[in-house]
Amino acid sequence: MKILVTGGAGYIGSHTCVELLNSGHEAVVVDNFYNSSKESISRVETITGKKISLYDGDVRDRALLEKIFTEHKIDCVIHFAGLKAVGESCAKPIEYYDNNLGGTLTLVDVMRAHGCKKIIFSSSATVYGTPEKLPLDETCATGGTTNPYGTSKYFQEIMLEDIYKADNDWTVVLLRYFNPVGAHPSGLIGEDPKGIPNNLTPFIAKVAIGELKEVGVFGNDYDTPDGTGVRDYIHVVDLAKGHVAAIEKITESGVYIYNLGTGVGCSVLDVIHAFEKACGYKLPYVFKPRRAGDIAACYADAGKALNELGWKAEFGIDEMCASLWNWQQKNPNGYGK
Ligand code: UD1
Repeated sequence: MKILVTGGAGYIGSHTCVELLNSGHEAVVVDNFYNSSKESISRVETITGKKISLYDGDVRDRALLEKIFTEHKIDCVIHFAGLKAVGESCAKPIEYYDNNLGGTLTLVDVMRAHGCKKIIFSSSATVYGTPEKLPLDETCATGGTTNPYGTSKYFQEIMLEDIYKADNDWTVVLLRYFNPVGAHPSGLIGEDPKGIPNNLTPFIAKVAIGELKEVGVFGNDYDTPDGTGVRDYIHVVDLAKGHVAAIEKITESGVYIYNLGTGVGCSVLDVIHAFEKACGYKLPYVFKPRRAGDIAACYADAGKALNELGWKAEFGIDEMCASLWNWQQKNPNGYGK
């Protein structure tokens, strides 16, 4: 199939391009490089030995999307493009809603005009807000999000569901990612956050390489086995493969919702210790107060994706940390942008 990957140069997008190309699909990428680098695309081409058609621009640019859909017969869109930093979204709600909701609206409008009605949307476990139960399954209530980033994911899910309600020819797949971490085993592509990382594993990697002094553990008084926050970390390669499974398994129109997680919760201290195994030395950490907006624990019931897509995560936290450490060592300055 020929697949348009919006945000295909980004962290999850680039790993997904590798898996798509390795599975015999063609990838067309549109990316505005706001938080990504063209270098990731050439590295995807190196890993796979295949070419990507690349368009430099924004999904809100209708003329650009028209051009792409005219030049290519796109069978399906995987929509990653969007802003994703929780803290920044609180400071810049207008930009977040404009980019994330505006981008999706322009995209689906152009898709409709070109008769392409299959979209796989990059959603997040953040749509569950404070979990009503653990593990979270896809029937759990959504909403109650606490920041514009999360709310934009929640709104986009509703928009896409409404589009299917109005026109049953659409295939809408909502993939709710838990915490994607790690990097491709080649060490050629990985996560390249701007500035000081907000998320746990890139922060730990910077401490391991000596760029940052110590890991701040946000809270050690949660109601969890060791008092630190528990999350469902998923290897980005497993996550990428989940997209391929969704593309290949879902052939009928409808709305399909899947958690993409491992079903295993790891605490902050578990992750630090797994990373210590990967890098071979002790990592300094200090306990700090809880981070505003954090929940104690969040992990998936990943059974629906297994039953319906035949997909399950293969890698555990040790492989996630080892692959991240490999990427960090080989690319101390990321893609060097
Ligand atoms: C965050 C976002 C989530 C988004 C996801 C993408 C928030 C509130 N949520 O999830 O919407 O989809 O990233 O991956 O930001 N931690 C530390 N020290 C650090 C950083 C984090 O102890 O320096 C802890 C956190 O308190 C949390 C865990 O590590 O318990 C994971 O944090 P993080 O990697 O930021 O992800 P989430 O907050 O789960």
